[in-house]
Amino acid sequence: MATPKLQAPRGTYDVLPEQAASRLALEAVARRVLEGAGYERIETPVFEATELFSRGVGASTDIVQKEMYTFNDAGDRSLTLRPEGTAPICRAYVEHGMHTRPQPVKLWYLSPFFRYERAQAGRYRQFWQIGAETIGSDDPAVDAEAISLLWAILSELGVGGIELRLGSLGTPETRAGYRAELTAYLHAHEDRLSEEVRARIDLNPLRAFDADHPGTREVMTGAPILMDALAPEDLAHFEEVRARLDAAEIAYRVDPTLVRGIDYYSRTLFEFTSDLLGAQSAVGGGGRYDALVEQLGGPRTPACGWAAGVERILLSAEHRPLPHAVCDLYVAGTGLAAFALAAEARRAGLNVQLELAGRSAKGQRKQAARLGAVHVALVEESGSIALEDAETGEQEPLAGASAAVAHILKGRHL
Ligand code: HAM
Repeated sequence: MATPKLQAPRGTYDVLPEQAASRLALEAVARRVLEGAGYERIETPVFEATELFSRGVGASTDIVQKEMYTFNDAGDRSLTLRPEGTAPICRAYVEHGMHTRPQPVKLWYLSPFFRYERAQAGRYRQFWQIGAETIGSDDPAVDAEAISLLWAILSELGVGGIELRLGSLGTPETRAGYRAELTAYLHAHEDRLSEEVRARIDLNPLRAFDADHPGTREVMTGAPILMDALAPEDLAHFEEVRARLDAAEIAYRVDPTLVRGIDYYSRTLFEFTSDLLGAQSAVGGGGRYDALVEQLGGPRTPACGWAAGVERILLSAEHRPLPHAVCDLYVAGTGLAAFALAAEARRAGLNVQLELAGRSAKGQRKQAARLGAVHVALVEESGSIALEDAETGEQEPLAGASAAVAHILKGRHL
């Protein structure tokens, strides 16, 4: 019986060579936009102490309650594959005393994350995010700049049908009063709510705005609105963010019912959707999280950031893959002299491909043409080399590897 084939786990996927180019293009744009604005790259571990997420993301969220890949290691520590990047970055900010650096600290990342979600188009169990976090300032310009940088990345990548929704959650203090009001309202209409929402009225009443259940949605149209309850200083902050987005000519819709599935947000909240995506329409989102650093044991430090899903960007973007690297030299011939020529040419910075499949002389020519090689070196075991210009077919006899490399370099700089 044949050995059964294995498949990648459900909700994961392979990035095949033909898909690598568009991901590279995405990374190049994100890097240019973010590093151009002074953001520096950060990488944190793929797994963290489970407590980081229960404390940081929030014990009552879907992410912590049902979506984490949590396991005990051989030393009996509870670890979790990171479901998101903001809590780990704040952990790193505190651990490395980054509050002593000039503030705000501006960090960006492109990394894989893990959530046990129902897999479907645009929703995976291992997915990638580009993200940016600005830690150490409560200036409304931080929020508006963060939003405008994500806007710039999505626009440059040709993401279609974008809408930006904007809201404000106020501070935990103002939210507490509102929460009591909303909880009372939900209890009063309990019989029309979905079971899931009902079960979490006291735990997380705001999530009711997120429900798909028709009865719940109907109830929510009459629910009290958080933005009406904002404290004057939170409202002023929100107005300042809006004024900057207006000045930058970034279109948005204020959505007082916007909620996100993470507990660390305060004040500004935003989400970009694309109507090319279907059910999983959120391309990216984020907001302000002024209490998170302190919750993780650091000094009180305001911060704001976002993350965008790489797969969802690629699904909703025009495809503009990067051109392949030019092959300067294809080395035909399989002996030591051929191998030495390839090594010397690579040391000189040329893009070189070797014949690796034992093709016939004719087959080698064909392969060189398929690769679009600019030159083909026909190498004799004696070390003598005939360098053929792939375009004209002209052959140049050369005494050895150094002469051949010099010849190609000279042509390159003409
Ligand atoms: P999030 O909204 O949970 O926020 O995720 C951000 C983006 O990641 C989503 O808009 C979506 O594009 C993508 N995403 C999330 N889950 C999946 C999935 N299962 N499959 C594919 N893509 C997915 C955060 O993670 C926050 N850390 C954002 C943030 C940064 N807030 C402040 N700073």
